[in-house]
Amino acid sequence: MEFKTIIEPFRIKTVEPIRQTSRAEREHAIRVAHYNPFQLRAEDVLIDLLTDSGTGAMSIYQWAGMMRGDESYAGARSFFAFEQTVHEITGFKHVIPTHQGRAAEHILSQAMVNDGVIVPNNTHFDTTRANIEARRGVALNLPIAEGHQPATLHPFKGNMDLAALERTLREKRGQIPMVMCTVTNNSEGGQPVSMANVRGVSELCKQFGVPFIIDACRFAENAMFIKMREPGYEDQTPMQIAQEMFRLADGCTMSAKKDGMANIGGFLAVNDDALAERCRNSLILTEGFPTYGGLAGYDLEAIAVGLREALSEDYLRYRIRTVEYLSERMTAAGIPTVRPAGGHALYLDAKSWLSHIPQSEYPGWALSVALYTVGGIRACEIGSVMFGKQPDGTEKFSELELVRLAFPRRVYTQSHMDYVCEVLIYLHTVKDKIRGVKIVQQPSALRHFTAKFAPVAESVLSD
Ligand SMILES: Cc1ncc(COP(=O)(O)O)c(C=O)c1O
Repeated sequence: MEFKTIIEPFRIKTVEPIRQTSRAEREHAIRVAHYNPFQLRAEDVLIDLLTDSGTGAMSIYQWAGMMRGDESYAGARSFFAFEQTVHEITGFKHVIPTHQGRAAEHILSQAMVNDGVIVPNNTHFDTTRANIEARRGVALNLPIAEGHQPATLHPFKGNMDLAALERTLREKRGQIPMVMCTVTNNSEGGQPVSMANVRGVSELCKQFGVPFIIDACRFAENAMFIKMREPGYEDQTPMQIAQEMFRLADGCTMSAKKDGMANIGGFLAVNDDALAERCRNSLILTEGFPTYGGLAGYDLEAIAVGLREALSEDYLRYRIRTVEYLSERMTAAGIPTVRPAGGHALYLDAKSWLSHIPQSEYPGWALSVALYTVGGIRACEIGSVMFGKQPDGTEKFSELELVRLAFPRRVYTQSHMDYVCEVLIYLHTVKDKIRGVKIVQQPSALRHFTAKFAPVAESVLSD
């Protein structure tokens, strides 16, 4: 008899208490934080869904690995354990540790990107875009059309538009130093990319002689989606699927804070000897010696173990099911979300949910403030506050106003998720009473982290 209930595939050995707060305490805390959830103290948050990056719980094997950490400056045993694991999964010849994903992107951009070149991707993550633009390159997004349509169902909504990529490679010949593909596609709702699509990108890159680099942060979640949704992969393990995917590319950047199951770390891995040498030279300048790259020996051990744990089928089935469960409950309650559910997060569609709030009053931001005020849940707006301010200072509203509920790995249980559902369903009953916000002070760039806000009415929620 096979039972249907998908359980958390772990038992809890160490716990971190979380603190219940009263509505009055939360109203005070968010006011003091100038209505910016990034400015809250984490202790005032009950369920923290701000990000899945570096917020996961480590296993007993990772902690045991940390005790094995070899802190030698050069040639540490821990580096070789790390290198061997990355090599086994990705097959890439050169493995270069970094302190997190953006450091790998920075080093790669320094080696590959110059004035005016174009780097296509399905959708660039903000730090990838920023690193390319810092080298005066153009970060070009080529997602399939369905990627922009929250309610349209598609099994691989993170795919790249292959026809658009081919056109770009043909028309901009000589101006493209590399093509990237982000798995899963974080900026488009954590949606997966199919193996067929990765293969298509790989073939085009070979045809035009351009290196192909995978942004691999959530490679294990992507592999599981391929197993679950792409014909021909049902009987393969996530490890085999990941290995096949990496074989199609020339290198990858990685934030080990996601599918490395670690609290810090990352790497760059490539096949090209000359490129690896350029990258290692720049690594020494910015991160450290090539066998530690800004990490402690114990971090390298935690990542070496974590990368394998992330590929466990039981774990991946539970992880994907958690997000899907929340998504199904939202759909049943009539709350609009990006569908199907992504791998690491559920994205609420605030623009259609709170259609009474104009974009000039930032519906996604208002929703994130209401979520905290009512239930102590912290989420992240991905909309006009994050993307609306243009380099020339003007405001251009974002196409989508989303609120991302990102799931830390192995941290919350089903009852935490049931609580999140209860809060959201309550908000649905009072949604017309949620009011917008205005910005009262903002920095010149990346304003969402530090901007100060105020409600346009007396309060964001008068329920
Ligand atoms: C797709 C993607 N690429 C790159 C990064 C950057 O990684 P890090 O935060 O470790 O610098 C992230 C982090 O959220 C990401 O989601």
